[in-house]
Amino acid sequence: MDPLVLRALSKPTLAHTDPQFVETFKEALENLKKVFMTKHEVFVIAGSGTLALEIGIANIVEPGDKILNIVVGYFGDYFARMSKAHGAATKVLEAPWGKCVKPNQVKEALEEDDYKAVTVTHVDTSTGVINSIKEIGQIVKKNSDAFYIVDTVCSLGGIEVRVDDWNIDACVSGSQKCIGVPPGLALLSTNDRVLNLLENRKTPVGFWYGDLKNWLPVMRDPSKYFATPAVNMTYALSESLKAILAEGLEQRFMRHHIIAEAFRAALDALNVRLVAERECAADTLTAAFYPENVEDTAFRSEMRKHGVVVAATIGPIKGKGFRVGHMGNVSENDILSTIGAIEQALTHLAYKFSLGAGLAAAQDKLVSL
Ligand SMILES: Cc1ncc(COP(=O)(O)O)c(C=O)c1O
Repeated sequence: MDPLVLRALSKPTLAHTDPQFVETFKEALENLKKVFMTKHEVFVIAGSGTLALEIGIANIVEPGDKILNIVVGYFGDYFARMSKAHGAATKVLEAPWGKCVKPNQVKEALEEDDYKAVTVTHVDTSTGVINSIKEIGQIVKKNSDAFYIVDTVCSLGGIEVRVDDWNIDACVSGSQKCIGVPPGLALLSTNDRVLNLLENRKTPVGFWYGDLKNWLPVMRDPSKYFATPAVNMTYALSESLKAILAEGLEQRFMRHHIIAEAFRAALDALNVRLVAERECAADTLTAAFYPENVEDTAFRSEMRKHGVVVAATIGPIKGKGFRVGHMGNVSENDILSTIGAIEQALTHLAYKFSLGAGLAAAQDKLVSL
């Protein structure tokens, strides 16, 4: 976390009706629009990223609607499960873990049936796979009237997401990844198509806290009340969004790209294989398979000794690899020290490679990009 963000969390908690807080909230919403690259509505609601996903589904889906869920990992499946929970008839278009779904596959699926909505995860955090949400958005618009719902929990603020240009009807995200704020805020954008739908639904939204019609007046005028906003988290969001825009979105995306390229070069040099196919490896997170005879718990505890926490892989690749998040306020130094720790951990676990090869490859990338 940027120290400014942490300091904002410890500021005195004002009443949510206090004009100073109302101003901060308004400013955060305006800046969030810039990050989503939308001129339409944005929402900041207390809850985690999952809440944002479910709000997207609950407001758009009605019982019996047909939904096409594009699934490339653990979080894509969240959308499928939520769609079912809200009464939809779901059709899953799935790619094996490590692969992305090709826009052409989406076109074929849309030719087979009429869908009320299409859901897709931009970057699935379980695999580090990125889907081409721009191209898929063009196909959804050209070939159907479906609402396009995109999960950008692991990309917004780190990889380009252009809500208006890419025909995204509901873009759902969270505070704790590239946005650089602790977990606890659901972030969402919607456009006029969604607002029209809300006026014309046959059934009420079956989720009162998440009914966007309850939140809309507050997001348009934060002095209004529906449910108490997370005041200090809103301060933190406001600070972080200012820092993101001060860095510049293009600049920020490039920083993420350079660091990801350096990390991928290091893993190549160590002969450590990525989970994601190279053409769909995300710039915010990398999952990699362990070399033979490297055991998960031993590797991660060696990493901890060097002060680096990496996540385990989950689902069908549980125990077979590790995941490194390189997003938000990540720096070149962070990635180099992580690569150094990986080299040390692998050496302790008797994996044979030329010590320093990963660091050299990463530094080569950093100086050349
Ligand atoms: C891509 C993606 N979608 C959804 C979620 C769910 O978000 P949360 O854990 O904040 O509820 C996550 C969490 O890591 C995620 O990475």
